[in-house]
Amino acid sequence: MVANLSNQKIKRTDLCWCQSGLPYIECHQPIEKRLKALARIGMETPSRNMLKTKEQIEGIRKSAEINIAVLDYVAKNIREGISTWDIDTWVHDITFDMGGIPAPLNYEGFPKSVCTSINDQVCHGIPSKNDFLRPGDIINVDCSTIRNGYFSDSSRMFVIGETTPEKQRLVDVARECVYKGLEQVKPWNTIGDMAHAIKSHARANSFSVVRDIGGHGCGLEFHEDPFVSYVIRKGTGMVFAPGMCFTIEPMVNMGTYRVYVDADNGWTVYTDDGKPSAQWEIQVVVTETGADILTY
Ligand code: MF3
Ligand code: CO
Repeated sequence: MVANLSNQKIKRTDLCWCQSGLPYIECHQPIEKRLKALARIGMETPSRNMLKTKEQIEGIRKSAEINIAVLDYVAKNIREGISTWDIDTWVHDITFDMGGIPAPLNYEGFPKSVCTSINDQVCHGIPSKNDFLRPGDIINVDCSTIRNGYFSDSSRMFVIGETTPEKQRLVDVARECVYKGLEQVKPWNTIGDMAHAIKSHARANSFSVVRDIGGHGCGLEFHEDPFVSYVIRKGTGMVFAPGMCFTIEPMVNMGTYRVYVDADNGWTVYTDDGKPSAQWEIQVVVTETGADILTY
């Protein structure tokens, strides 16, 4: 993996470290100057190693191809009566067949290749031979791939058969929240601007947003800085700059935002009140004018 010359001094007329092919002075130099000025007035700003090079972004896109294909397969085949273990088998086998490694497998001791979280499970559910999908269930399938050292991460919700109107609305609003947030992702906006859009939309629908868990930088590692909160105030949090890669993955709850971790397995997160939770996750890269979706 090529480091992006984080500590190297670049002359104004040298080619930019981001491999755009432009001279530094016409590319990231003015951006970094503006970031430094913002840092001086107390804003949180990305370090250069949070800004990915062209080559790194290409690598993440290649990884994302697998992640998208795996979730497309799940979307086609998920149905009543299968177990979450079956989903894990699909994810495991397709990922390896396509030349990738499932990022969750053995990650900090996580035992399976994918996270499957049903109903009041918020995230990090562990696939099991005993958990069968029933009509009316809503389930999040969270896939992450390593390919050639590059990481991609996204998740989708699936409704098994037909569910209640309220659970369906939760699923739909959670997805809308991601795209309302995405609209705010552009250089010089902040994570707080995105969070505000997400939280406002959830609140307007009388849902809550989980506070203790959020998104993250992603690309050269599974979980990189910054931590991406969806509940901080507008105008606060890290400033977006071109090349930042991170996930948008708010967990939206029907009841309380409060959650707890399963004491037995140390992973599965549940809502405190047992009401359902929904989450969609995309990974994006900040561009000059907005953001591109890398995986969904
Ligand atoms: N994919 C999850 C995320 O969005 C992380 C899962 S970590 C695991 O951050 F170990 F549980 F897989
Ligand atoms: Co993630």
